[in-house]
Amino acid sequence: MDGNGRWATQRGLPRVEGHRMGIRSVRAVVECARELGISHLTLYAFSSENWGRPEIEVLTLMGLLRDFLFKELPELSRQRIRLNVIGEIERLPAYVREAIRHTMSATAENTEMTLSLALSYAGRNELVRAARRAAEDAVAGRISAADITEASFAARLDTAGMPDPDLVIRTSGEIRISNFLLWQAAYAEFVFTEVLWPDFGKAEFLQALDEYSRRRRRFGLTSEQALQPDIPR
Ligand code: FPP
Repeated sequence: MDGNGRWATQRGLPRVEGHRMGIRSVRAVVECARELGISHLTLYAFSSENWGRPEIEVLTLMGLLRDFLFKELPELSRQRIRLNVIGEIERLPAYVREAIRHTMSATAENTEMTLSLALSYAGRNELVRAARRAAEDAVAGRISAADITEASFAARLDTAGMPDPDLVIRTSGEIRISNFLLWQAAYAEFVFTEVLWPDFGKAEFLQALDEYSRRRRRFGLTSEQALQPDIPR
């Protein structure tokens, strides 16, 4: 969800106003994904690197997150959307952790869609934490080295139980992965758009999905193999 700061600066506003406007885009995209029957939507809302931003910006983002979680709870419940969070949650302030705990437990039984927020998240850090868990299990004798497989490693990631993303969208003209879902995005399609996040709405989301639908995904196979429905992937 990139480009909030630039959106605000272009209008002579403080950067935090861009984040405020970014919430509108969050609502539009969540609503659209739910209408379309998308089962999982993950939003990169705050990276581990974002802790280094000016204090006022970090505090504003934390406040926006807390308000979003409390304000959107009735709508998430109405739409049967489950809230999930990935990242180092323990680094977040107590008032955000409490909002997460409250909204996650209130939506735990919802099955129509899972909305995951990546908060204090960094892909490399997630991989290291998963490796550490596997090492701890090995040292304690609970598993052997041979038990560490792609599947068992994935089960130690924050995204355990979630499908890998089919599509990753990045706004604001940045053409980088920036530490997002490094393991999980191995076969994802990418759509990069110049649109700044506060200007990204339903029409832009549908356009990205349309672009995705025209991609031919081969998962390392030949075009002919990839067309066969019974090829394991
Ligand atoms: C990146 O744009 C955006 C962020 C660091 C924060 C994204 C947060 C929101 C959209 C609001 C809160 C989110 C939720 C889910 C309630 P940038 O500030 O780096 O923009 P720039 O590259 O133009 O400076």
